[in-house]
Amino acid sequence: MAAMHHADVHLITSWARQCDGIVLDAGCGPGHWTGHLAAAGVDARGIDQVPSFIDHARRVHPGTPFEVGDIDAMPYPNAEFGGVLAWYSLIHHDPDNIARPLAEFARALRPGGSLLVGFFLGGTIEEFDHAVVRAFRWPSEALRGRLVDAGFEILETHTRTGSLASSPKPHAAIIARRL
Ligand SMILES: C[S@@+](CC[C@H](N)C(=O)[O-])C[C@H]1O[C@@H](n2cnc3c(N)ncnc32)[C@H](O)[C@@H]1O
Repeated sequence: MAAMHHADVHLITSWARQCDGIVLDAGCGPGHWTGHLAAAGVDARGIDQVPSFIDHARRVHPGTPFEVGDIDAMPYPNAEFGGVLAWYSLIHHDPDNIARPLAEFARALRPGGSLLVGFFLGGTIEEFDHAVVRAFRWPSEALRGRLVDAGFEILETHTRTGSLASSPKPHAAIIARRL
């Protein structure tokens, strides 16, 4: 919880509470947001491609469902979820391939369902090394355009400056509604 910025806690918790249905934490990592949302009374579950993250998540948050899987091809029926949280989980996708997870999110959300995307803000789409793995910063307008192309209506864009010494880069979040 210490690494969670208070503005993010507020944004993610209030967003998830107004989602109508199950909230999927897509690219949940070790599951701290999924666990936080479940503790806040949200019907939340998590998916990540890294088995050790999912093992950890299951151990630390027993009772919350987690599965190993790829957000580019998710093992869920159409219209299963009321919300999808993609919190820094799209940052590693090559911009040429980001349409794939966005199409998956649109497919797995029911019409009217909500998507919350968190990402590093940049002046252009630019690559950088994040925790030794390649990642991309996005201008908000560029990511909003990809979301619209994937069948979403943009509802809100939030930005903030990174305040952690370890993460001084500007952050942004977009809330979009699946049409
Ligand atoms: C920067 S971490 C963010 C983790 C978590 N959402 C958080 O906010 O702490 C990015 C996560 O996305 C996951 N991820 C990236 N691409 C993925 C994919 N194609 N399928 C599933 N998970 C993916 C990574 O394994 C990693 O756990």
